Amino acid sequence: MNTQKKIIIGSDHAGYEAKLKLIEKLQKNGWSVTDVGCYSTESCDYPVPVHKLCLRIQSGEFPLGILICGTGIGVSIAANKHRGIRAAVCSDTYSAEMTRKHNAANVLCMGARVIGDDKIAEITEVFLSNEPLDEERHQRRLRMISELEDGTFDEQKYE
Ligand code: RB5
Repeated sequence: MNTQKKIIIGSDHAGYEAKLKLIEKLQKNGWSVTDVGCYSTESCDYPVPVHKLCLRIQSGEFPLGILICGTGIGVSIAANKHRGIRAAVCSDTYSAEMTRKHNAANVLCMGARVIGDDKIAEITEVFLSNEPLDEERHQRRLRMISELEDGTFDEQKYE
């Protein structure tokens, strides 16, 4: 369980205002929140905050992160270029629960132009209150994803 209640969050300009509202809700619920930017609604390039956030998850400083852009898609594509990062775009609570349980997603991505502030808070709550399932079939698939990252995936081994 994510008992430390600390989380890292980032956004681009399209997700900035939604991020501020989410940070406020998280802090009210006792979370310590680190914001890696951006820090205004001025247009910016989302790979920058995404990279900052992913480095601090990769280092082990934070177990989980949240990224918000217009659709959630750009930040998820950029985040998933980082080894060990499993970023999932969620617009519903079922996906948020399943991506923690089955995919051990460690970064939640959402689109501020897709869903409203209440839905963002609801999805975040579900994401943060679920854990990866301790089941071999899911762990096997996660190992396969790591092999894809490392370039060691041998499809013949799995046929
Ligand atoms: C910014 O206009 C928008 O492209 C960005 O927030 C995001 O939706 C990209 O995937």
